[in-house]
Amino acid sequence: MAIRPIKIAPSILAADFAHLGDAVAKVAAAGADAIHVDVMDGHFVPNISIGIPVVRCLRRVTDLPIDAHLMISDPMGYASAFVEAGVDGLTVHVEGAPHLHRLLQHIRGLGVRVGVSLNPATPAIALSEILNDIDLVLVMTVNPGFGGQMFIESVLPKIRQVREMLDQAHSPAELEVDGGIGPETAKRVVDAGATMLVSGTAIFDAPRGISAAIEAIRQAAGNEQERR
Ligand code: DX5
Ligand code: ZN
Repeated sequence: MAIRPIKIAPSILAADFAHLGDAVAKVAAAGADAIHVDVMDGHFVPNISIGIPVVRCLRRVTDLPIDAHLMISDPMGYASAFVEAGVDGLTVHVEGAPHLHRLLQHIRGLGVRVGVSLNPATPAIALSEILNDIDLVLVMTVNPGFGGQMFIESVLPKIRQVREMLDQAHSPAELEVDGGIGPETAKRVVDAGATMLVSGTAIFDAPRGISAAIEAIRQAAGNEQERR
């Protein structure tokens, strides 16, 4: 069985927005695998963050994949604008999409990676009908809306469950986790089956700096056994 490294996607929500280009350059130099952009509309979640113009600017300064995590009420209405701005992947919430299958087909048609996210209270079974339509599952380990929250332990069994569902479906989809991820929680989520870790505060607010923080998460996470 081949060993493959866990992917790390820094969430720029925790970066200094006055120096965003520098923050992205630093995480890239430290070996980050993708840039995670948290898009909040003050409606689907009780916070407002950043959106399309910021993605467009970041696209000019990084070759890393840009993943937009859409925490917005109308993902269908904005997906193509994010793709035009330069994202490589779009992740949408099950809870915000009454016509999830249609939305996923729409994103697929735009030619970017298709991701689906589950809030902590949403069961894994919500994925059962769309498992073959996605490239990534994002299991939220906090309630979306804010960085710097505490990791919710009770989500761990759901990560295992999603892992089993993906394996049973022979799906190569990435299993991503987001919220409260740092060196202390990385191993637990990877042991449960996560392959990609989003981390904001633990990277950008790390007292020893960005590079050391990414390395610490990588060390803690270890490698993942290739499952397929
Ligand atoms: C929460 C966001 C996360 C958040 C992660 O709504 O989706 O990406 O920024 O931040 P930390 O790592 O600080 O929990
Ligand atoms: Zn996120």
